Amino acid sequence: MYTQAMDTMGKDREDAPKPVRSAEEAAHQQEFDARIDAGEFIEAKDWMPENYRRTLVRQISQHAHSEIVGMLPEGNWISRAPTLKRKAILLAKVQDEAGHGLYLYAAAETLGTSRDQLYEALHSGKAKYSSIFNYPTLTWADMGVIGWLVDGAAIMNQVPLCRCSYAPYARAMVRICREESFHQRQGFEALLTMMSHGSEAQKAMVQDAVDRWWWPSLMMFGPPDADSPNSEQSMRWGIKRISNDDLRQKFVDATVEQSKLLGVTMPDRELRWNEERQSYDFGVIDWKEFWQVVGGDGPCNRERLAARVKAWDEGAWVRDAAMAHASKQTYQEAA
Ligand code: 3HC
Repeated sequence: MYTQAMDTMGKDREDAPKPVRSAEEAAHQQEFDARIDAGEFIEAKDWMPENYRRTLVRQISQHAHSEIVGMLPEGNWISRAPTLKRKAILLAKVQDEAGHGLYLYAAAETLGTSRDQLYEALHSGKAKYSSIFNYPTLTWADMGVIGWLVDGAAIMNQVPLCRCSYAPYARAMVRICREESFHQRQGFEALLTMMSHGSEAQKAMVQDAVDRWWWPSLMMFGPPDADSPNSEQSMRWGIKRISNDDLRQKFVDATVEQSKLLGVTMPDRELRWNEERQSYDFGVIDWKEFWQVVGGDGPCNRERLAARVKAWDEGAWVRDAAMAHASKQTYQEAA
């Protein structure tokens, strides 16, 4: 179902295929296509089609924005963690997300864009970040469920990216995926503690968090393949290795089994094992909600963006000081 939010996609997109202009360009294009077909990795210094580069800037920068904005919902609970141990774990996790953003912004910069341009695109609302981070974190159980479901979905989506045809992105993903597995495990362990040793109220808190985060987590994999304007080209370029729907299905199949160990139920009456498919059938995702949140109209979109703009404005003096220091150093070295 197309909505306004989708209308901006597909039409004269910046990364729409451009006609090849010269014989030399045609030769480059042919060599590039052969390398992609051979499963080779493309480095920043290699020739690449302009729309391949633009697609990577779009995806890598939005991935980086997701990491940085993703720090906000969890940061909300650092000062209210129930124990010193949980506070230390959550601090480490949020700090990891900042590092992931750094690796990914650096990978995006290898494509000729600048950090300032990337941030300008985020702050102006032009660039997206994962819709999942526009939902509020209402209780401590949300921290465990984000680790278990959100980081679990992120891993499912990010492991194939370790084989992305653009080498700097693939290399950034290897380290990120190692840290994501810690994120997912710490979330699951926190929930297992609450479900095994918690009070009835704490168990109810976990179930409430699962009920609120399950469907938005399924949306993290993107729209249905049939509604994805980027998937076909991205799969042809070896950027996307597995389709949105196939990754979503893998995530459902893995996570439902884990929910049994926790003793929680998924908020989906149509969820049932399909013996023939050897997979879970699940209910219809509310894509109207998805496109509303992607379009900027989710529960926390304005709050998240305002927090990022405020941090950017308040951090201007740090950037200026670092630039002044760097230029003084350059001057001294040149003298
Ligand atoms: N939230 C916001 N926008 C989304 C989205 C989501 N969950 N899913 C899709 N979209 C957007 C796409 O960006 C695209 O819009 P654009 O063309 O203007 O960029 C549009 O919806 C159509 O979607 P497509 O499937 O055609 O787009 P892609 O081929 O780019 O696939 C994707 C979407 C699977 C998210 C892909 O971009 C991707 O794999 N990105 C890298 C991984 C990533 O960004 N993960 C986000 C979570 S990071 C995270 O969770 C951090 C962890 O530490 C918690």
